[in-house]
Amino acid sequence: MSKKRYLVTAALPYANGPLHIGHLAGAYLPADIFVRYLRLMGKDVVFVCGSDEHGAAITVKARKEGTTPREVVDKYHAILRDTFQKIGISFDIYHRTSEPLHHETSQDFFRKLFENKEFIEETTEQYYDETVGQFLADRYIVGACPVCANPDAYGDQCEKCGSSLSPTDLIEPKSMLSGSVPVKRPTKHWFLRLDQHEQWLRVWINTGVADHKQLHNASDWKNHVVGQCNSWLDQGLQPRAMTRDLDWGVDVPQEIPGSEGKKLYVWLDAPIGYISATKQWALDHGKAWEPYWKSDDTALIHFIGKDNIVFHCLIFPAILKAHGGFILPENVPANQFLNLEGRKLSTSKNWAVWVHEYCEEVAGQEDVLRYNMIKKMPEQSDSEFTWTGFQETNNNELVNNLANFVNRVLVLNQKYYDGVLPRIDENCLFKSGWNQETEGQYNEELRVLHNKLQEMGAAIERYELREALRILMEISSAGNALLQFNEPWKTVKDDPEMVKVVLNLAVQYVAALSVATRPFMPFSADRLRKMLNLGPLQDNGDLLDVLNELVEGNPIVPAHHALNQPEHLFSRIPDEVIDQQIAKLTQQDAAKMQTESTAAAVETAEINHTPLAPEIQFDDFAKLDLRTGAILTAEKMEKSKKLLKLSVDLGFETRTILSGIAEHFSPEEVVGQQVVIVANLAPRVMMGIDSQGMSLMADAPDGKLSFVSPQQGWMNGRGVK
Ligand code: 2FM
Ligand code: ZN
Repeated sequence: MSKKRYLVTAALPYANGPLHIGHLAGAYLPADIFVRYLRLMGKDVVFVCGSDEHGAAITVKARKEGTTPREVVDKYHAILRDTFQKIGISFDIYHRTSEPLHHETSQDFFRKLFENKEFIEETTEQYYDETVGQFLADRYIVGACPVCANPDAYGDQCEKCGSSLSPTDLIEPKSMLSGSVPVKRPTKHWFLRLDQHEQWLRVWINTGVADHKQLHNASDWKNHVVGQCNSWLDQGLQPRAMTRDLDWGVDVPQEIPGSEGKKLYVWLDAPIGYISATKQWALDHGKAWEPYWKSDDTALIHFIGKDNIVFHCLIFPAILKAHGGFILPENVPANQFLNLEGRKLSTSKNWAVWVHEYCEEVAGQEDVLRYNMIKKMPEQSDSEFTWTGFQETNNNELVNNLANFVNRVLVLNQKYYDGVLPRIDENCLFKSGWNQETEGQYNEELRVLHNKLQEMGAAIERYELREALRILMEISSAGNALLQFNEPWKTVKDDPEMVKVVLNLAVQYVAALSVATRPFMPFSADRLRKMLNLGPLQDNGDLLDVLNELVEGNPIVPAHHALNQPEHLFSRIPDEVIDQQIAKLTQQDAAKMQTESTAAAVETAEINHTPLAPEIQFDDFAKLDLRTGAILTAEKMEKSKKLLKLSVDLGFETRTILSGIAEHFSPEEVVGQQVVIVANLAPRVMMGIDSQGMSLMADAPDGKLSFVSPQQGWMNGRGVK
């Protein structure tokens, strides 16, 4: 951590849906932990994010919901912003790419790249949907993946196998907008010469050297990140279109010939969103933005999920270099994916734990979710969240270890010293919480605490957040052991001086935890500060101050300091809460499947509309005498697969009616059913039986039949008009 300042970014989420736990564990929580730690170490750090409000993700959603892109982004921007705040993601700014400042910044970039001759203009044949009159790039087009045969691959990527695609790679492509088969039409676009950047990118990714300077240590990057980049580089980088034929997005600057109707590719404008967010932050705080993006003594770090690797490690660096004057990322510590109860998290399938819903339903337990997300963080490989695991972690670790330790320390200090820290004899020996065979000595134990905190910090600096959390909890375990080994409740009478030292030391542990928990569980850190009657953290070197005291063997909380009464830091989560969450997930899934099958059925029905019969006059209709009735009995007809023999009560008489519904209903199913009968239809003899009327049926969307039925309990024999 030798850089003078830090600019930390977290992937701009598309403003087309709320935030789920996969997003949280993938990018936002790791970024927040890292940033909060930097602040505690007194570093100059700016943490930027914002909503990604362009691209097909937004326009496709708007079309689906029958609304405008503007309404979609306004709605989800507000939800995302509030959710981040509730779960304690401490952005310095949460911006949006629909802001004019962002449009200007992105257009300036485009101009500069244009001037620098980084683009080639090319007219190519692209898919076009003739029914809606639109070109189909990226997510506007779906088809089968040529690599893994997934039938739902997008025009830019297959989400199943992760292959990067272009629309022309898709097998049997279909328009997302209309479902129709697209045709090819010529269109002109500006392509970034990524092929010309391939060589330096390969060197930079694999050695950290660019422009003859050692910019970062390549071995600090995660293996899977470097691996994914190399697999792209090995396939050879191709020029990539940086513009689209769309009506929602950032305009190609109008002075550029042929710009009409063209918008910037969303993956060009979105990462520039980090820069415009920094500019807005600087404006809001009377600071300069340039040092954070242009100065060699700044470390730029992008936190993202693995599906964004290529954009942040190859394409955006190429854009920054092509522009000139910008630094390159020092690291891109991408995470892999989090699964939920054995399945891939999915917004479209509603298989997710939604963070805003969690915050409402389990209010006050934001840190429990954060803790669980860190425990399960997919740092090197995909990982799995389960609700039972969530409960176990809470009950065994947060309650039994951390909350229990804090509570015991504060209760015992209240009991023996009225909550006022006694003066101690620092030479008095006791059993160390780290090893009961070892004699502990107060100042020495404070140095051990220092070392542990330093180890924890080093893990954060290596982006090993699960390991950092493990070390944090090790401190709490050692605190519990300190009490367990020395049993102050038994020894207080015989050895009061030793108990004073042990309980004072335990308070120092809690005080260290009140700072060190902050990156992981900021709400609990605040509560610990209150219980200890220590002022709120300043987020400006608090941990550094603690380390500086401890390394000297000095206490953090002085003698005579008055503690507050303890409160419960965490409480046990009962089975009912977990059962409810699991039931909710299952219901979400069932509801989604129901909606999907209805939608599919409706779609099928719409496609198969039978042509209208020839027009009739009202008098023709008036000739029909429709009556309500109820089916009294029903039986199968021998030798007929199709017919059921019904007796129908019309109120004034009972009719025998043969109905062609036997393939759709069993006799038992229809008895008692109310129906509408064409009561004046001339009788017809079928299979030797006189059928005296006909029951109206509707074609159900799934190809079955459904009774046309009056309201339940309607009197039989009433007219239907
Ligand atoms: O994948 C996504 O959700 C994108 N909206 C991430 C953009 S990150 C950055 F480049 F803005
Ligand atoms: Zn695939």
